[in-house]
Amino acid sequence: MNREEIKSIYRKRARNYNLTANLYYLVGYREFMYRNKAVNSLNLKLGDKVVDICCGTGLNFQFLEDKVGPNGKIIGVDLTDAMLERAKERVNKNGWGNVELVQSDACEYNFPKNVNGVLTTYALSLVPDYDKVVGNAYGALVPGGRFVDMSIKMPDNFLKHFRYILFPLVKPFGDPEEYINIRTWESVETHFDKHDFKEFFGGITYISVGEKSIRDKNEFI
Ligand SMILES: C[S@@+](CC[C@H](N)C(=O)[O-])C[C@H]1O[C@@H](n2cnc3c(N)ncnc32)[C@H](O)[C@@H]1O
Repeated sequence: MNREEIKSIYRKRARNYNLTANLYYLVGYREFMYRNKAVNSLNLKLGDKVVDICCGTGLNFQFLEDKVGPNGKIIGVDLTDAMLERAKERVNKNGWGNVELVQSDACEYNFPKNVNGVLTTYALSLVPDYDKVVGNAYGALVPGGRFVDMSIKMPDNFLKHFRYILFPLVKPFGDPEEYINIRTWESVETHFDKHDFKEFFGGITYISVGEKSIRDKNEFI
């Protein structure tokens, strides 16, 4: 899918996106538990600055607010205006004064300096040049800062034979045939010398974490 196709899909999905996300509970998928785990993996502290790449309607924001507090900063970046409008509604409703929303392609986004964490959930494989995003995030992170990518993938086990049941469940967010086999975590493993990868829900969900070394990997002299 190109940018315009993505925008067109998510403009249509924006209004009911939050509700649709909750429907996965009907098949036992505890989406918010994975969001919470992903945010915990960022290892944020009060006052930290975090970027949520492809933030959508801001479903991670409450978890991030709990970590960084009112003196921290959350920057939500997304391509689709309608998704960001829903995110803005969420921010206003909660009275969060520390959230900045930016409409941008993730590949073109200029990260601010000295970011403590970068999060992306259910989205990175939709970005054709995701490796550039991971590389840019690495450059923006402070030493010790973490990049966390949480999403769904094709399981490596017998569940892959259930693709014709599983795929229609996620089709409203883009054709899974196009993104389900993309291994975004390999970019994390390339850019970050410290990394971890864990699977959940029968290998359908994963959390990939990269931590920037205290010493920049290119500076050894
Ligand atoms: C499945 S939604 C996930 C939203 C949110 N991260 C969440 O966990 O609910 C995918 C989001 O990625 C955004 N997106 C897709 N491609 C993008 C790109 N190249 N740059 C920025 N955002 C993008 C879409 O607009 C959409 O909001």
